[in-house]
Amino acid sequence: MPLDRAEYRRASMSSDAHATTDEHRRALAHPPATLRVHDVTLRGPRLALRPLTEDDWAPLLAWNNDPEVLAWAEGDEIESRTLDEVQRIYRAISVNAHCFLMELDGEPIGECWLQHMNLERLVARHPGEGVRRIDIAIGLPALWGQGLGREAVGLLLDFSFRREGVDVIYACVDAGNVRSRRMFESLGFAVGPGMDAAGTESDADLDLMLNRADYAAARLNG
Ligand SMILES: CC(C)(COP(=O)(O)OP(=O)(O)OC[C@H]1O[C@@H](n2cnc3c(N)ncnc32)[C@H](O)[C@@H]1OP(=O)(O)O)[C@@H](O)C(=O)NCCC(=O)NCCS
Repeated sequence: MPLDRAEYRRASMSSDAHATTDEHRRALAHPPATLRVHDVTLRGPRLALRPLTEDDWAPLLAWNNDPEVLAWAEGDEIESRTLDEVQRIYRAISVNAHCFLMELDGEPIGECWLQHMNLERLVARHPGEGVRRIDIAIGLPALWGQGLGREAVGLLLDFSFRREGVDVIYACVDAGNVRSRRMFESLGFAVGPGMDAAGTESDADLDLMLNRADYAAARLNG
């Protein structure tokens, strides 16, 4: 259960595994007319992560209609999306997230976001803590496996833990998505079992987790 664009469809499901918090349910039911735009830009050696804007629908629509990208990002049967669907999803997510466009040499190559945790079961695991999730998709398959995802998530972690004061971050990944799993693990995320649609622990869905103390320790050792 990777990108929580899938949560958009699952918001109506009753299972505990995918139950979303009230604020996320409200945003999904009534997305704003435009993206909530922030003012954070993050720069790495190769990438810039800049705020996602209303000028970015063309690449987002293309990536959301590439079956190869969707198969990994969504992990289920979705093969295409209309512009209206794409706009509703990203606008709804943006209410509770910093949404970024990934740029390489000034060209859009993907998107990612740091979102207030939307899954009730994971919020409940950390009472009183700031819990976020990271979702990411490089929209151009030719660029997969070149360390760009790792660079982007590294920038998001630095922003989250050092500037935003976040306590714990999750990535919800299909166990079969080895590339994604290895990327998150190489940054210090540790695997815990996820939950399947029936709300029981599942080997196929993984909750990858990193907290602030482990992030700081990994930076000291790395
Ligand atoms: C997941 C994604 C963001 C990762 O970004 P990336 O730039 O491709 O990943 P990186 O190159 O930084 O790291 C990939 C890791 O997997 C390994 N890897 C690369 N290709 C692989 C493959 N075909 N199978 C298994 N592992 C692979 C790399 O060696 C690296 O691991 P390492 O650091 O231990 O060497 C990107 O591949 C993507 O957008 N995929 C499609 C959408 C998706 O899956 N999103 C995530 C949903 S949870």
